[in-house]
Amino acid sequence: MHKTILAGLAILLAGAGLATAAPRSYELPEPTATLKPGPGSDTAQVCAACHSVDYIAFQPSQKGLAFWDAEVKKMIAVYRAPIDEADAKTIAAYLASTY
Ligand code: HEC
Repeated sequence: MHKTILAGLAILLAGAGLATAAPRSYELPEPTATLKPGPGSDTAQVCAACHSVDYIAFQPSQKGLAFWDAEVKKMIAVYRAPIDEADAKTIAAYLASTY
């Protein structure tokens, strides 16, 4: 008796599994794969070494030099981004004027 109920349940569950196994498609946002062109964009390529450029593109625009300067310094201090001081300045200026 018990076994019959369990078997019936298993068949039901298997059926439900099949019904939901249809392929799904997702709408993904367009990846912003590259940095915007501008003076210093070459130097800033290092910013795409660990994560996508989306991390930069998704920040609110017009944040200004102080914000980007702090952001670049954070990448260096916290995440050990291999960027020297001169490049850090170039990158912060590029980001401030471009994003
Ligand atoms: C050594 C690796 C590394 C490099 C190089 C790097 N980042 Fe990051 N970055 C990270 C990590 C790790 C995070 C945090 C990821 C998370 O929280 O999911 C991050 C997060 C960010 C964020 C999201 C906001 C925040 O503060 O967490 C921004 C913006 C960002 N990085 C910008 C930059 C810029 C600009 C550069 C170039 C100067 C850069 N990153 C280079 C590792 C790196």
